[in-house]
Amino acid sequence: MAHRGPRTLSVPTQALLAIETSCDDTCAAVVTSGGEILSNVISSQSRFHERYGGVVPEIASRHHLELVNAVVEEALEEAGTALRDMSAVAATSRPGLIGALLVGLSTAKALAAAARLPFAAIDHLHGHVAANFLGPAPLEPPFLCLIASGGHTLLADVQRHDGYELLGSTRDDAAGEALDKGARLMGLGYPGGAAIDRLAREGDPEAFEFPLGMRRGDSLDFSFSGLKTALVYKVRELGAEQTLARRTDLAASYERAVVESLLVKIGQALERTGHRRLAIGGGVAANSLLRHRAAEECARRGIELKIPPPVLCTDNAAMIGSAARFVPHVAYPAFLAFDAFARSAA
Ligand code: KG4
Ligand code: ZN
Repeated sequence: MAHRGPRTLSVPTQALLAIETSCDDTCAAVVTSGGEILSNVISSQSRFHERYGGVVPEIASRHHLELVNAVVEEALEEAGTALRDMSAVAATSRPGLIGALLVGLSTAKALAAAARLPFAAIDHLHGHVAANFLGPAPLEPPFLCLIASGGHTLLADVQRHDGYELLGSTRDDAAGEALDKGARLMGLGYPGGAAIDRLAREGDPEAFEFPLGMRRGDSLDFSFSGLKTALVYKVRELGAEQTLARRTDLAASYERAVVESLLVKIGQALERTGHRRLAIGGGVAANSLLRHRAAEECARRGIELKIPPPVLCTDNAAMIGSAARFVPHVAYPAFLAFDAFARSAA
């Protein structure tokens, strides 16, 4: 039975607790049914993975386990509320690192069971799309949405709040993965996307010519493996000393190729679908060049553009809470059977 006791929640609407642990950020948030973020706590583990040049799944799971309770507590406290005042609990159940997902999912299920609250299992990619539904200026469907993260790159036709239709996705590396691997080749460390973003501002984006994957043809799929290979050859040709000396130019040129590849497919998808609104999400949407170029392109085409603030583009639980507002909530005890999956169902 749902909690029926006196409510201590000082907010005017109902709120839900959301947990996200699909990769290397331990996140919890409280989001109202109206899409207002009451708290959004993110504990990044990147310093633990830095020395390995990428996320180590086993280390990620162990850190999630250590951090998750404190992160949940902080999210409730910051929102000025308590678990018993929540209307539901939600967690990312897919796609992601299985061990990492299981920590957040099990925690959320246990909390929901203990408080006899309903539960919602959320697809991480739906979460990235749903970041656009959060206040104070939510975007209403229909719109075209690009999600570009470390694990995924996809174009979605968003007609409803509770899901989307996949128009295209990457055939090999994700855009963020291409940036991270590129950064590693340039000796910039992990995670590399933000490092490339910073360095590129001082470099010449036309210094080196890199290929734009899948530029021609009808497909709305992406490909970044050719670009990555081109960088491997370029770095080899330049040698260690020149690579270091020219890394601002390399970063700027490489970043430009990734961003322009994304924009080519966005342009094709806008033309094909006739959408007049575009949203961009996922960690790569925090990139300043992408934000700038997308704004330019949308202004030129007369398209309304929404890119959530960077903290809602990279992984967070507020977006999971946002998605949870639009999917069915399952009552106790049926949700105890819910499992985590490495792949998206979409
Ligand atoms: O969405 P996200 O936080 O996690 C996944 O679901 O993968 O995305 C992480 C990705 C990483 O590849 C990271 O390098 C990239 O987003 N990223 C950036 C920036 N900030 C994060 N890429 C380019 N510019 C940035 N400022
Ligand atoms: Zn993500």
